[in-house]
Amino acid sequence: MLKLNDIVAGYGRTRILHGVSLEVPQGGLVALLGGNGTGKSTLLKTIVGLVRAQEGSVELAGRNINDVPTENRATLGLSLVPQGKEVFAAMSVHENLLMGAYHRRADKAGIADDIESVYQRFKRLRERRQVPAGMLSGGERQMLSIGRSLMARPSMLLLDEPSAALAPKVVEEIADHILALRQTGLTFLLVEQNVGMALDIADHIHVIRGGRIAYQREVGDGIAMEELREFYLGGKEHA
Ligand SMILES: Nc1ncnc2c1ncn2[C@@H]1O[C@H](COP(=O)(O)OP(=O)(O)OP(=O)(O)O)[C@@H](O)[C@H]1O
Ligand SMILES: [Mg+2]
Repeated sequence: MLKLNDIVAGYGRTRILHGVSLEVPQGGLVALLGGNGTGKSTLLKTIVGLVRAQEGSVELAGRNINDVPTENRATLGLSLVPQGKEVFAAMSVHENLLMGAYHRRADKAGIADDIESVYQRFKRLRERRQVPAGMLSGGERQMLSIGRSLMARPSMLLLDEPSAALAPKVVEEIADHILALRQTGLTFLLVEQNVGMALDIADHIHVIRGGRIAYQREVGDGIAMEELREFYLGGKEHA
């Protein structure tokens, strides 16, 4: 389980997160919703150690990992699928996947098995394995970006706006992939601006506003869309 305790973080002297606490239970799928510039990506970067927590703590399986460097957090099972569907544009799909396993490049047999399972899961990537990643569609790039993260054998994926700039049909496809991955035991923290998608697949919703959690609910509790919209778009301050 991942636990964030009163995280304060930012860039230089600018504070972006003003005391964020949230929990992601093992096997859970927790969504973090919020508008542009509210600190969603900053929070994910703090979890993987790209941004330092100035106050508060990031706890993984009961252990404070504030001082663990980013590359070692990957070894602990945390993997960030960054915003913008970033891939190495000039490299082929296959080479991009290999990059995801770079830290265990000596394990040739394990890597071959993992690439095969990524291709089984994302059939389109197999078809396009020799194509430069820059030539892929947005949906394919998102799949590649997730596939590359999987090559690190994570236990928890931090997805930063996977549905952004995709057609509704492709968003559904990505959502189905997330649900299928969850069936394998992976845990998810999903950052989204697509409220519908988050409500469809998450079991818990948090809304962040101005670097603070403004609202949170179990999805099963019957989230009132009106209420959610109010916290999401502005108006109320705290849940
Ligand atoms: N490297 C950086 N240096 C300085 N300020 C930054 C940096 N990255 C982000 N910020 C600022 O921090 C604030 C929060 O940014 P963040 O990227 O976390 O927002 P976000 O919720 O992910 O937004 P979006 O939905 O647009 O991706 C913004 O005001 C942004 O301009
Ligand atoms: Mg962002």
